[in-house]
Amino acid sequence: MGRVIAVVNQKGGVGKTTTVINLGAALAERQQRTLLIDLDPQAALSNSFGLQPDTLEHTIYNVLTGSDFPLAAVIHPVRPFLDLVPANIDLAAAEAELVSALGREYLLRDALEDIRQQYAFVLIDCGPNLGLLTINALTAADEVLIPIICEFLAMRAMGMLIQTISRVKKRLNPQLRVLGILGTMYDPRTIHTREVLDELRSFLGEKVFDIVIRKSIRFAEAPAAHQPILEYASSHPGAQAYRDLAEVIIHGEEKHR
Ligand SMILES: Nc1ncnc2c1ncn2[C@@H]1O[C@H](COP(=O)(O)OP(=O)(O)OP(=O)(O)O)[C@@H](O)[C@H]1O
Ligand SMILES: [Mg+2]
Repeated sequence: MGRVIAVVNQKGGVGKTTTVINLGAALAERQQRTLLIDLDPQAALSNSFGLQPDTLEHTIYNVLTGSDFPLAAVIHPVRPFLDLVPANIDLAAAEAELVSALGREYLLRDALEDIRQQYAFVLIDCGPNLGLLTINALTAADEVLIPIICEFLAMRAMGMLIQTISRVKKRLNPQLRVLGILGTMYDPRTIHTREVLDELRSFLGEKVFDIVIRKSIRFAEAPAAHQPILEYASSHPGAQAYRDLAEVIIHGEEKHR
């Protein structure tokens, strides 16, 4: 049964989509069959693999809002071992359309039921909010991965997120657990990793990964080339960091803790 991981942070631009792309590519490189789900109407994930969201007739929107529209019908193979379920701007209407739907928090979980056993991992890219789509991701997930920018006071926005996760856990998905908090866009010239990680840990505890993702222009260039950084700059430290993260997620805890 595939592990379903929601990549969530209501703060925008923290590296959620970048993490889904590159962790997904790293898992696929390890021959772990992986499904990426774009749950953001901005469709950055879909764009990054060269799909043209506005030309797609069917997307995750149809799965969530149509009765009995199977997820299998909107799966696009994008690389060996890597498939993608795209979104487009239609999804922006879903929040409002689903407000009165019966079991509205369980729509994604139900849609995944028949599909997840075909994958080792399912990664869900959430938009920058804690609305119904993100609640669907948290309800469908086994684990939450939280990217957070490596800067002082970055954790101030985390209170609401942690509260939402514990509410979902209590009311909708008791199995949900935090897989880890991933420091992103780390710039060694401006701050010392240790200090930031210590500060993150003092607020957020041991769930903070030792692996951090450095700031690099390559991360912004790769999506324009419709490639994960693992292909665009395969031996770049940023690519290696996502490979290390994949390794830790496949095999469990970081060894040196
Ligand atoms: N480690 C990094 N170094 C430099 N730039 C990065 C890094 N990670 C991501 N970026 C860039 O920062 C921008 C925001 O990243 P990304 O889109 O992954 O964030 P997000 O959390 O998904 O944003 P949103 O909340 O808007 O969906 C993108 O242009 C991306 O290419
Ligand atoms: Mg994003």
